[in-house]
This record gives sequence, C-alpha cells and structure tokens, in this order.
Amino acid sequence: MSERFTILKTNEEVSRRIDELAAAISADYCDITEENPLLLLCTLRGAVFFAADLIRKLTVPSEINFLKVHSYQGTRPAGSPIFDLGERIDVRGRYVLVVEDIVDTGQTMDTVIRNFSDKGAADIRICTMLDKPSRRYPQLKETVVPDYIGFEIPDLFVVGWGLDYDEKYRLLPDIMVYHPDAEEGKEQ
Ligand code: IMP
Repeated sequence: MSERFTILKTNEEVSRRIDELAAAISADYCDITEENPLLLLCTLRGAVFFAADLIRKLTVPSEINFLKVHSYQGTRPAGSPIFDLGERIDVRGRYVLVVEDIVDTGQTMDTVIRNFSDKGAADIRICTMLDKPSRRYPQLKETVVPDYIGFEIPDLFVVGWGLDYDEKYRLLPDIMVYHPDAEEGKEQ
C-alpha cells in the first residue's frame, strides 16, 4: 500500500472492540427470549463484516436481516439516502439493533429509525463500528445518537473493514484513512 492509506485502527483493535461491544449488548439485552429474539438489521454492504463478527459473539438469542442503504459517491454524501429491502422486514413488537459501519451526517440512521419506528418496533437502537460526530447535521445532533459505538473518529474518510471508496478497498483488513489527494500519479 502507498501513502494514500494510513492505518487508523488495526484488525486486532477492531476485533477486541467487537468483543467488548458484544459483551455490553449481551448484558443490556439479557431479558431477550427465544420467542422474540434480538433482530440485528445490518446495513449493506459496509456493515456486513462487522455484523457477522458481532452476532457470533452475542450470548443472547439473535437473528440477522439486511437493509440496502446508499448515500455516498466517492468521498462525499450524494444526497438523501436511498433505502430498500426494509419494506419486507416485519419489525412489529421486535427489539431491533441496527448495525451500521459508520455514522457520518446521520441522514441514513435518521431515515432507518423513522422508517422502523413507524412500523411498530418495540425498541430500536443503533450499533455502529465508527462514529464521526463532528460531521453530524446540526438538526440530527440530538436525535441520531448511536447506543453502541466501536470508535469515535475525527472527520476523515476511511476505508477497509467493509468500508469502501466507490466499491474499492472494502476488504482491507485494517481501517485505513484514505487520502484521495495523494492518489494522483500513484495509480497511473
Ligand atoms: P450518513 O448518512 O451521512 O451518516 O452516512 C452514512 C453512510 O455513508 C455510511 O453507511 C457509509 O456508507 C458512508 N460513509 C460515511 N463516511 C464514510 C467514510 O469515511 N468511508 C466510507 N464510507 C463512508
């Protein structure tokens, strides 16, 4: 890898943090039953690796389902999040834990929470691998507050561990800061 990428969190740090999050979530949901298991709603595609590791560490009855949400183009938000698959998921009376890769402006999580609250979920919480609170839209600062956060990070564009730049770099094992300005001349 060239200097376009610098390590922010190593694979080992992320894995250790997932252990801690899984322990905290399992403790908080200790009353969850087999009849009404915790429903993890994983956002596609960025949160897939995070959610897969997290759910296998939970000690409470859990199920997983997936939402397709996209709002980024390159390193900039592309406008309102587009949201599908969610329509078919019945969340009535369910304890929902939305599993997200990164919360940035908060638009995506705002859309998801509104959608599922309207559909009668008993409870909705957010678990995100990364949070960039300094990027939150002012009107969402109070309402989009993740319940479980892997790491709070500054305003940086990151890739790896499921996070992409125009579908590239998702499979990098560490979370890396991506420096697009250093790209010119490097790939040609
Ligand atoms: P929000 O709606 O602005 O909070 O953006 C959330 C979505 O934007 C995430 O699910 C990611 O897909 C994408 N995103 C935000 N920041 C980054 C980043 O640093 N790297 C890669 N994707 C990002």
